[in-house]
Amino acid sequence: MHIHRLEKVWLAIGIAMLFVFLGVIGISAFALGTQPPSEHHHMIDPTKVKEIAPFDQPGIHQVGRKEYEAVIISFAFGYTTGPKEQPVMKVPAGSTVHFTVTSTDVVHGFEIPGTNVNMMLVPGEVSQVTHTFKEKGEYLILCNEYCGIAHEAMMTKIIVE
Ligand code: CUA
Repeated sequence: MHIHRLEKVWLAIGIAMLFVFLGVIGISAFALGTQPPSEHHHMIDPTKVKEIAPFDQPGIHQVGRKEYEAVIISFAFGYTTGPKEQPVMKVPAGSTVHFTVTSTDVVHGFEIPGTNVNMMLVPGEVSQVTHTFKEKGEYLILCNEYCGIAHEAMMTKIIVE
């Protein structure tokens, strides 16, 4: 009789644990479904990128003293870094640049060799990173995610003068 009662207790604990696990899974799924994976990402419609701010005005924008926002659209196989009249990004040495980047088609990369800037660009996600350019020079921006036949040629630059 005594053993029988213990079995019932263990059965009750087992069922309770099952509900706890189900609850945890449910809460996790709910959290993943309703929140972006990181506070540095938010979601946009990748087919309407050019209509959505700030991507409706790509390029370098001054936002403070020696502080800029660089709004960039990546696509197979290149980066839109400004309007046609001013396609090249230029900032003075010592500037802090906040890069805001997205992709209109497939997964691309965004790497500035020699810096800590290295992001994956996922269609529908807005990726952000900040870098201060202390030294003058031409900094290459490269795609480091294989994205198709012209992947190797997918690059742009920012000039620090
Ligand atoms: Cu874009 Cu590789």
